[in-house]
Amino acid sequence: MLVPKSRKANLRIFYLSIIAKECSVSTSCCDISTYMTLLFTLKFPNYNTIYMKLNVYQKTALLTIAATLFLIFIGGLVRASGAGLGCPDWPKCYGLWIPPTTAEGLPPQFASEEFNAVKTWTEYINRLIGVLIGFLITLTFLFSFRYRKTKPSVTVASFAAFLMVLFQGWLGGQVVLSGLSEWIITVHMLMAMAIVGVLIFGAFRAVSGDIAIEINRKHRNTILYGSLILLGLTLIQMVLGTQVREAVDTISRGNPDLPRSLWVDYLGVIDAIHRSFSWLVIASSAFLIWYTRKHNVNLYFSRLTYTVFVLILSQVLVGIVLVYFGMPPSFQVLHLFGSAVMISCVLLLVFSAKEANTV
Ligand code: HEM
Repeated sequence: MLVPKSRKANLRIFYLSIIAKECSVSTSCCDISTYMTLLFTLKFPNYNTIYMKLNVYQKTALLTIAATLFLIFIGGLVRASGAGLGCPDWPKCYGLWIPPTTAEGLPPQFASEEFNAVKTWTEYINRLIGVLIGFLITLTFLFSFRYRKTKPSVTVASFAAFLMVLFQGWLGGQVVLSGLSEWIITVHMLMAMAIVGVLIFGAFRAVSGDIAIEINRKHRNTILYGSLILLGLTLIQMVLGTQVREAVDTISRGNPDLPRSLWVDYLGVIDAIHRSFSWLVIASSAFLIWYTRKHNVNLYFSRLTYTVFVLILSQVLVGIVLVYFGMPPSFQVLHLFGSAVMISCVLLLVFSAKEANTV
């Protein structure tokens, strides 16, 4: 339904009454997706939305995307806390399915001096969450069967995510068995982002048609190509970032006594390229904001481009703190997780522009 801004107050009352009605007739009263859809409608009252209840595939896919982003965050914590070899073997941890909490519980073949309960359990919890996500992706794939005839791309994307997560589990093992090889960590990180991307694609295809976003054809094309360029630039920036991270790891491991604040002095040209490339990323997202505002493109796109811009600026700020304030571990985690969230939003922008109804 088309909702003019002036009717915003009346609409709030109208939608709140729908929530009340939904809760009074539904057996699973106060379903979270009902709230999400209606709150979304309240937030974006002046563009087309259709009241929608998410089905089991859509709910599982959204949960899986959030859980996978959370795992990227935990992966960052593992790295920043130096817990990557908290379990020296794989798939077991110190030869056990459940590692001990004290050195006394270690099997005899492992030296107790190397044992650190906090690091071991940090890495072990990381693995447990990885297994949980494996199950969630399997469920997403199974539930996607309902689309195999109507929207086969949803089932294909979910199957691709399923195969990718199997590979990712094996790759996680190779990270440990290689003693944290820099390039295998990079492939592991890129694969995590690829899984998020494929899941977002599947989830978005599944809801496309239910949420109608109307936009002028010319504006749609400009936003689509603009956001594709932005996506390409952010992916290049992410790969450049992984090269900086590889350099950081090589320096910190080769010089254990070198203070963190001096690591950047030895990063070389890749650091300068990564920093400078930020300008291109900023410029292309600033263009999208300028364009959506100048042409008064609908609120959904102008808010989404704004969100992407803010996320990019935050990443630049976090990068500046890393370089000029001695690489605080918490900012390493923020930089990795923030990049994953930002690229997810850019993907959302691309898919929204692609699926939008042109008028
Ligand atoms: C659009 C902006 C940016 C994006 C998307 C981005 C993205 C990334 C990514 C994905 C990584 C790899 C993280 C990992 O594998 O753990 C990284 C690493 C890094 N980036 Fe950026 N970055 C941006 C801007 C900057 C800026 C402006 C600086 C410095 C002024 C910077 C400094 C660094 C440093 C020092 C690392 C290594 C961090 C570590 O070893 O944990 N970044 N960046």
